[in-house]
Amino acid sequence: MKKKLGHIISGSITEGFELRVDPETDLESIKTGKFVSVVGKKHKFFSLITDLKLQVTHPDILLFPPSQEEKLLNSILKQKDMYATAQLKPMLMLTADGRHSPVKTIPPHFCSVYEADKKDVALIFGDENEPSKKFFSIGTPLDMQTPVCLNLEKLTERSNGIFGKTGTGKTFLTRLVLAGLIKNEKAVNVIFDMHSEYGLQARTEGKGKSFVKGLKTLFPDRVSIFSLDPDSTRRRGGSPDVAISLPYQAVHVEDIISLQSELNLHATAMEAAYLVAAKYKQNWLQALLSQGENLKEFSQELGAHPESIAALYRKLKRVERLPFLKPTGTGAHKDSSVIDQMMEYIDKGINIIVEFGNFTSTFCYLLIANIITRRIHARYIQKTENFLGSQKKEDEPKKLMISIEEAHKFLNPQAARQTIFGTIAREMRKYYVSLLVVDQRPSGIDQEVLSQIGTKIVAQLSDEKDIQAVLIGVNNANNLRSILASLDSKKQALLLGHALTMPVVIQTREYGEDFYRAMGNVTTKQIDSFIEELF
Ligand SMILES: Nc1ncnc2c1ncn2[C@@H]1O[C@H](COP(=O)(O)OP(=O)(O)O)[C@@H](O)[C@H]1O
Ligand SMILES: [Mg+2]
Repeated sequence: MKKKLGHIISGSITEGFELRVDPETDLESIKTGKFVSVVGKKHKFFSLITDLKLQVTHPDILLFPPSQEEKLLNSILKQKDMYATAQLKPMLMLTADGRHSPVKTIPPHFCSVYEADKKDVALIFGDENEPSKKFFSIGTPLDMQTPVCLNLEKLTERSNGIFGKTGTGKTFLTRLVLAGLIKNEKAVNVIFDMHSEYGLQARTEGKGKSFVKGLKTLFPDRVSIFSLDPDSTRRRGGSPDVAISLPYQAVHVEDIISLQSELNLHATAMEAAYLVAAKYKQNWLQALLSQGENLKEFSQELGAHPESIAALYRKLKRVERLPFLKPTGTGAHKDSSVIDQMMEYIDKGINIIVEFGNFTSTFCYLLIANIITRRIHARYIQKTENFLGSQKKEDEPKKLMISIEEAHKFLNPQAARQTIFGTIAREMRKYYVSLLVVDQRPSGIDQEVLSQIGTKIVAQLSDEKDIQAVLIGVNNANNLRSILASLDSKKQALLLGHALTMPVVIQTREYGEDFYRAMGNVTTKQIDSFIEELF
């Protein structure tokens, strides 16, 4: 039986509906973010509770409140004069024949409001067991056990974002989403894994278990590890499929642009970099770093400002300490060989985790992610053009999703205008490539990029600027603001956008043994008993 919560007493489409909570309903069981259905004559209106309020019919009651002992008075007042209302934000309207549409009308007075049930949730968010493998559950509505699914096909049609303060569960959510894409084969992923949390295993806070399984562990045949620090990968009990090594020639001036604020590079130093590149082409970095004593003559020869060249030299000197970047002719792989290998994997539908191991500096992360992404994107442009030329189904590129953490460092207004990540975010999958951006400070991301983000998964944020940023381009964002402010500090998120029929608050799916099993992975217990049998 559906649980009735109360009835509608007023409302408007823009401001939402007001629900009078029944006296029998346990008020404290109604929380903001709760998923409810308003049953009108012809439509069901699915809504989220955004606010709660205590009301009285007469102000005298507040001046002369009944005492605890006056049981009869209390219960009479409760029936009629003291009550609570809840503010509902209608998100979706369902017609009798099961079609959904945006909310364009309102229910009449006194319609009943119910807790949403299993059937409602499945009807709206899809069913994981559907053969299309379109739907993937990433949690349950608050106080319910029914899975809420993302539509993975829609998810991969745009770039997406996962936001929330540090420690709210972004990385865990990202791993869940990626697991869904990998399991259901809806996109190939390239994941820039700054802290080695996606591949083999990852730390988890709290009692008991201290590690969870990574994606390579869950899907050994569908995930490969490209490591910048093979020793670190080995120490953690895995062996990288490919050790990354790139020559200086792989670094373009463009790749340095994202590093500008990280390195505190002045605009004139960037101009100097362009001057070096104009003369030395792809050997520009090598030419610059080999100057040493001759920086003065070098700048004269280029017609560049000596101080700018000196600054550029000083700042980029760090590159020499990175073992995976090698000067030309010192045994470095051919410029394109790592990218060739990546493309081979991608073409086979194998996902790639780029592990940084102990190279966890932002400098490294930005540099490598830019280099690799720029080159993969260039390959994808070729692929797409081939496909458009041949029109053959087998030439169609596989959808590619690139995941980055600390996204604001790649996509701040300045970088977004000039770097490959900004390009990908803006071109909207024209070349089958999209982004999955993970960030704790979305207000640092360029507004235009934010407005292009298709699906947002938002865990707790407390900075007003960040809340505002994630709600850019969202209708009637005000109502969602209060929901965002009241999320738990962990394992809860507001989902909204393209891959969801309506916004909804979820308790995040538990990433643990049950999840591994659902992904088709054998449990450690099973392995243990298997080993026991062997010996
Ligand atoms: N879905 C989940 N299942 C299990 N544990 C989770 C889940 N989400 C978050 N956690 C717990 O919360 C901690 C912080 O999550 P994490 O994703 O690392 O946060 P963030 O990336 O936002 O800093 C994890 O170490 C884990 O213990
Ligand atoms: Mg994290």
